[in-house]
Amino acid sequence: MTTRKIPLTDEELIRRINTLRKQKNAVILAHYYQTPDIQDIADFIGDSLQLSQQAAATDADIIVFAGVHFMAETAKILSPSKKVLLPDLNAGCSLADSAPADKFEDFVKAHPGHKVLSYINCSAAVKTLSDVIVTSSNAMKIVESFPKDQPLIFAPDKNLGAYINGKTGRNMVLWDGACEVHETITTERIIQLKIENPDARLIAHPECKAPVLVLADFIGSTSALLDYTKKSEFKKFIVATETGIIYQMQKASPDKEFIVVPSDETCSCNDCPYMKLNTLEKLYLCLKNEKPEIILPGEVIEKARRPIVRMLELSK
Ligand code: 13P
Ligand code: SF4
Repeated sequence: MTTRKIPLTDEELIRRINTLRKQKNAVILAHYYQTPDIQDIADFIGDSLQLSQQAAATDADIIVFAGVHFMAETAKILSPSKKVLLPDLNAGCSLADSAPADKFEDFVKAHPGHKVLSYINCSAAVKTLSDVIVTSSNAMKIVESFPKDQPLIFAPDKNLGAYINGKTGRNMVLWDGACEVHETITTERIIQLKIENPDARLIAHPECKAPVLVLADFIGSTSALLDYTKKSEFKKFIVATETGIIYQMQKASPDKEFIVVPSDETCSCNDCPYMKLNTLEKLYLCLKNEKPEIILPGEVIEKARRPIVRMLELSK
């Protein structure tokens, strides 16, 4: 007779995670797009910039990254002596995947004299080909730190790149990449939601397409969007980004209403399928077994580190 394993309850998983993180001096970093149970158990929740700052500053022996692969890679690059774990190694990113390093290298070679600015949503290999990394929190500031006549490449997110070009009057050469989650957000649905909710503010992540951004009352990174909803006197928001951020918005402002786009019961297409691969159980198992671990060649760490450190310095 085979014995069936009874799955652990969430309470038991949380209890075990808490014991293990103390025993192993581990820190759990979570992105805002993680599920509420993971956000609740994290030592720190943040956007891509805040999470890399935390990864660089922590004195923990183990970093458990509840996020996607490029984020855990960034943590490893910034803290190479630490063990960096990702609960599910398949938690990739469509935007990072849209820039294969070999093709990107050819692209860079085809644009001599250009400085290369890469959005943090890219592989470690692409980072080694970059002069500076940016996130949605600091991209504008970092682009503006270059002289106006300096030719620039911006990769891999064409939407964020086009948004910055429009705002700054630059003409950065854009890599043709995008996030599959933000690309599903359409103006048709937004206009319908705006008609149904004339008192709502539309807030959008800059990974959204240009026609969506044109309609937005406020555009920013996940942390900037959260901050805006906290400080705004408005009571209703149409939120054009991944659904995970709503949890912190609702927690911080229980009296306000947050409408997800597309708020359609038949579609959860703005749930990032990669972010949502992480579960409480996988988080527990990775802390217990200390795998899957992010391993990178020393040479890649060394080369990819420079543009990330440059970003951290320019973000101070
Ligand atoms: P930020 O949290 O930095 O705004 O990034 C959003 C994102 O797409 C993470 O994958
Ligand atoms: Fe990548 Fe988009 Fe998911 Fe962010 S939301 S991790 S950019 S696929």
